[in-house]
Amino acid sequence: MRVPVMAGNWKMHMNSNETKSFIHDLRGRVEDTEVKVILCVPFTSISAAKDALAGTKIGLGAQNMSWEEKGAFTGEISPDMLLSEGVEYVIIGHSERRAIFKETDDMINKKVVKALEKGLIPILCVGETLEEREEHKAKEVTKHQLKEALKGVRVKEMEKIIVAYEPVWAIGTGKTASPEDANEMAVFIRETLKELYGEETSEEVIIQYGGSVKPGNVEEIMNQSDVDGALVGGASLKVEDFEKIVNF
Ligand code: 13P
Repeated sequence: MRVPVMAGNWKMHMNSNETKSFIHDLRGRVEDTEVKVILCVPFTSISAAKDALAGTKIGLGAQNMSWEEKGAFTGEISPDMLLSEGVEYVIIGHSERRAIFKETDDMINKKVVKALEKGLIPILCVGETLEEREEHKAKEVTKHQLKEALKGVRVKEMEKIIVAYEPVWAIGTGKTASPEDANEMAVFIRETLKELYGEETSEEVIIQYGGSVKPGNVEEIMNQSDVDGALVGGASLKVEDFEKIVNF
């Protein structure tokens, strides 16, 4: 049985004070949920989030990490640094990192492998651009991203990974993939994982949808057979909206 996972990706929003008040407001509202809730906060808010989350079941996530352990890598944050702050999850390969910061499949693969080696749970993002979708390449592109990101990942490790299907054209645009389209891609991702890791493992993996998820569309998306959760950007910055998404 796959337990739904709702993760907020705050992107570059929320300083440490805002983080504290957000979490204090959210805590009580999602206390009774069966859903796994995760907040992926900016590096500088991790410590505040950790304190504010104490005593809750809400998971703490980061939005990126280095594949290196330590050394002369100005501006980078290592997996051990995240672990020492209580981080359990890390978003890897978000389309904004791929497109704006030129992260390659190879870099993403190194991060996934390192995160797993260190005991962090990767939330691995894959998904096509509008141009690729219009050229009917959504599946080809997504499969390629998956296979490249998962090179060297073993079966036991795969069971832990969360995959987020985030079509680039639906992120921050207000355009959501239709629930059917989101599910078609989730099914396709699961089939690809089955080819790579076998049926038992592929049935265990949590596959999220991300891209303009809102209180008004979350239920339909979650009603699909193979969508197990959401990776939420904008709507995770408002307590009321995120609460509604969690309690869909
Ligand atoms: P929005 O929910 O703002 O479209 O962002 C989605 C996203 O990129 C989550 O990682």
